[in-house]
Amino acid sequence: MDSLPDQHGRIATDLRVSLTDRCNLRCDYCMPAEGLEWMASEITLTDDEVVRLVRVAVERLGVRQVRFTGGEPLLRRGLVDIVTRVGRLHPRPRIAMTTNALGLSRSAPALAAAGLDRINVSLDSVRPETFATVTRRDRLADVVAGLEAAVAAGLEPVKVNAVLLRGLNDVEAPELLSWCMARGYRLRIIEQMPLDAQHGWDRSAMVTAEETLDRLSQHFDLSPATQPRGSAPAELFLVDGGPATVGIIASVTRPFCGDCDRVRLTADGQVRNCLFARAESDLRSALRAGADDEEIASRWQLAMWTKAPGHGIDDERFLQPVRPMSSIGG
Ligand code: GTP
Ligand code: 5AD
Ligand code: SF4
Repeated sequence: MDSLPDQHGRIATDLRVSLTDRCNLRCDYCMPAEGLEWMASEITLTDDEVVRLVRVAVERLGVRQVRFTGGEPLLRRGLVDIVTRVGRLHPRPRIAMTTNALGLSRSAPALAAAGLDRINVSLDSVRPETFATVTRRDRLADVVAGLEAAVAAGLEPVKVNAVLLRGLNDVEAPELLSWCMARGYRLRIIEQMPLDAQHGWDRSAMVTAEETLDRLSQHFDLSPATQPRGSAPAELFLVDGGPATVGIIASVTRPFCGDCDRVRLTADGQVRNCLFARAESDLRSALRAGADDEEIASRWQLAMWTKAPGHGIDDERFLQPVRPMSSIGG
């Protein structure tokens, strides 16, 4: 089988597939209150096209994990069918999803039956008022119900992703951790990255990993976990001696690009070799012009080869990608 290497010795085996750029929340660090201009349906890949590209990645290019993202992937009508078909590929990839969990209380059983293995849920606060301020929607109860349904359906381990914003939810980190530990969810706290559609990111306002660790250490005894980190974005710490852990995703202050094994496919069929890539490779047009699997695979390999060694956020020439986070999928 071929693979997806780059010039810097990394091989992509983890494919993140954005299924839609739409979302039913309006997180402050992601989207403006009025939403964005959504992707036109003509350029959005059909379910068949998504499955075809994922099949090429899995069967010909060595992809072993497929993660569905958005926007909000639960808003994609064909989601269960797509998961079912990806679950039938050989070799069967692990299948994960990153979601805001709205509506998951209804769909978790069907998704688990279709072959979804596990989920990561974005949840920045367990206080209804803070949740409503950060997401601009009063939907905390739906997220909590979604998390419970995920466990009941066996979609484990359930991870919770929290982005901390200064003056909004940064003081709530210890409370979030206690809440997650009491329910068996694995909390990861994420440094905010410059990917918001509004271009409002300000490094000096960012809550750093170090600050978060200091704050958590006032309430918990944290020690580095011994398990190898591999290519995971999260650095794990045992909480009060374990077995519970908390993850810190310090994309900005402690980048992990050197071990990256990820490649992304957008809902309009563009390969992105990095979250921060400024160039994309248009597989949709190739597909619609009749390219066979071999041609798709070689275009994909070419797109990966030029992956930059790192995101370059600290470089003074850094430019935020044109595509916002909600259309890349994190
Ligand atoms: P696991 O396989 O469960 O470890 O998933 P994950 O942490 O890779 O994925 P998830 O979608 O939950 O992302 C959590 C956070 O990590 C989000 O803020 C992502 O944007 C960020 N993240 C994921 N992949 C990358 C990456 O390649 N580079 C950077 N800088 N951040 C990433
Ligand atoms: N920086 C860091 N993480 C972000 N997410 C969304 N926007 C940002 C950002 N600007 C997180 C979401 C979700 C995951 C896909 O990425 O909270 O959990
Ligand atoms: Fe939606 Fe996720 Fe963006 Fe929040 S972070 S607005 S849940 S896409």
